[in-house]
Amino acid sequence: MKVLVLGQGGREHALVHALSQSSLVTEIHVIPGSDGMMSQALCHKLDWKSTEALIDFCLKTEIEYVVIGPEDPLVAGLADRLRERGILCVGPSQEGAKLEGSKIFAKEFMTQAKIPTAKYEVVSYVEETLKKCEHFTPPYVFKADGLAAGKGVYICKDKEDLERSAREVFEKKILGDAGRRAILEQFSPGWELSYLILTNGNDFQTLPLAQDHKRLCDHDEGPNTGGMGTIAPLKISQNLRDDIDQKIVRPTLDNLKKNGILYRGVIFFGLMITEQGPSLLEYNCRFGDPETQVILPLVDGDWGQILKDLAAGILKPIQTKNMAATCVVMAAPGYPYSPQKGVKIEGDLQFSSPSGYFLHAGTAKADANNWVTNGGRVLCSMGIGPTLEEAQKAAYVQASKVTWNRIQMRKDIGAKMIKPNPTKTNAN
Ligand code: GLY
Repeated sequence: MKVLVLGQGGREHALVHALSQSSLVTEIHVIPGSDGMMSQALCHKLDWKSTEALIDFCLKTEIEYVVIGPEDPLVAGLADRLRERGILCVGPSQEGAKLEGSKIFAKEFMTQAKIPTAKYEVVSYVEETLKKCEHFTPPYVFKADGLAAGKGVYICKDKEDLERSAREVFEKKILGDAGRRAILEQFSPGWELSYLILTNGNDFQTLPLAQDHKRLCDHDEGPNTGGMGTIAPLKISQNLRDDIDQKIVRPTLDNLKKNGILYRGVIFFGLMITEQGPSLLEYNCRFGDPETQVILPLVDGDWGQILKDLAAGILKPIQTKNMAATCVVMAAPGYPYSPQKGVKIEGDLQFSSPSGYFLHAGTAKADANNWVTNGGRVLCSMGIGPTLEEAQKAAYVQASKVTWNRIQMRKDIGAKMIKPNPTKTNAN
């Protein structure tokens, strides 16, 4: 069976890694992929935006199904184009992907489905933002409506900070069209949980629960990033799980169906667990990055088969291993604002052990023996073990095998969840 993965980052390398262990998958193709994936997959320099060429490639290569990694192709409707031509794929329709593509659509959808979420206002210019912020107490959450590659969310400590953010987005237009409108939202204190499901639109299977570390520096300081590291599984009480399923997951699926929206893929619920219960911060219409890196290895099954079934709308129960995983992101100097490319990576990039390995997020091969940074998040250092503590230790042992000038890496991935009890920890 030949499978195509779209994308090039750490999440897609995690998918390639999981598919390479499948007994059914004979060839893994990636568009565009990266140098770091080449030992496990065939990478092709094709642009997903050239839809006809992509469809041609799938048909000629006899691709069994396509896994769409990032959100942009989903929001642009690529899953619909593939399905129209009889090509199976993992990913929602364009309408379904709007849950991530428009924060305003998502909030209206949550309101319609009576899903617990922070109160909000839609804003489109600075003065309106400053006026409407009187309805909230600081800190304020200001979110660009459209896709902004992880740069569209501002947590503003006071009105001055909010004004600065609103000016950047509405006047300097640093996010382009994605910032034409925005959401102003009440900040919810609590701890964050990445709750991912596989769904065919009717039923769902919950994947091992993960926690991301979004701030750049230890102790949750510094700017927001795409994610500096993850741990899984997070153990939560059955009551909390039932609450999430009944108040958030089921109403989402029911409302998708009510609105006639086809959804076959992953829904990633970004949750804040508050004192009042779970509150939905945002939807993502794809696997998380770097959540995928820690979730996939904990599933006891053949990912080649699981994703094939999902692409065909079939869901079977997910079994999990009694194991834990940690992903420590190793980032380039300048990340997240202006990551430096071309910095030489020193050490043993090929190092792996039963409890550790690297996934490539933004690397490039400079020549036969040398690798350089080629993106913001460069490497994912993976640790797997029987407990979170051992997985964390393994990930840092793995990370110690390479370095580069002015590397950025958090030293506290998982620290809060290992001790003390997660349900009593304020993660943000
Ligand atoms: N780790 C957050 C995301 O994938 O959006």
